[in-house]
Amino acid sequence: MQIEVRLAKKSDKKSFIRLALERDVGLRDVSNSYKLYRQAIGNPKYWATKFDELVKEKRLLLVRIDGKPNGFFYFSLDFIGHPSAYVELVFVSKVNRNLGIARQLFAKVEKIAAAEGYSKIFSSTNPSNRISLNMHRKFGYKRCGSIYGIETPTSREIFFSKTLK
Ligand SMILES: CC(C)(COP(=O)(O)OP(=O)(O)OC[C@H]1O[C@@H](n2cnc3c(N)ncnc32)[C@H](O)[C@@H]1OP(=O)(O)O)[C@@H](O)C(=O)NCCC(=O)NCCS
Repeated sequence: MQIEVRLAKKSDKKSFIRLALERDVGLRDVSNSYKLYRQAIGNPKYWATKFDELVKEKRLLLVRIDGKPNGFFYFSLDFIGHPSAYVELVFVSKVNRNLGIARQLFAKVEKIAAAEGYSKIFSSTNPSNRISLNMHRKFGYKRCGSIYGIETPTSREIFFSKTLK
């Protein structure tokens, strides 16, 4: 099995949109969420615009397994105006989970951020996402707080941080 992790390019647009919509299928039960978020989920136009922005800013990684797109990861730099990176979203296609793909994606982004001179990376997840909580702990991320009310008025997002070498 050949696993390739690289920055996305313009020609990856269709693959990315397909994967993003696959990710959205698991999020249909968000009837309480804010209107803007509800409109984005399952909306190819939203993902097309997002793709253009991410590719232009070199903030999107795509995974290909034996040449077939299987996951993505996007991040930001200068998180809330400070010299830190932030993991925005990571997704691995169901058929290829538990093979260490997310591990490779995180490693690549951490390398990119460190090479750019960033010494810290932040990430976050929903408290009910057990796999994501495990994953962050396994990759050396430490819990650093929670923020309420981002997704819905009562939801909580758990934040993590990691110091980069
Ligand atoms: C979370 C996700 C990205 C993990 O991707 P993956 O390629 O399967 O992860 P890896 O194989 O690299 O595993 C990394 C770690 O995650 C944890 N993990 C992965 N699958 C797990 C499972 N089924 N049960 C419990 N922990 C699990 C483990 O700690 C694992 O480390 P280990 O294998 O050394 O024990 C993937 O499950 C996914 O896309 N989920 C839907 C989107 C999502 O929840 N994204 C994260 C929040 S933004």
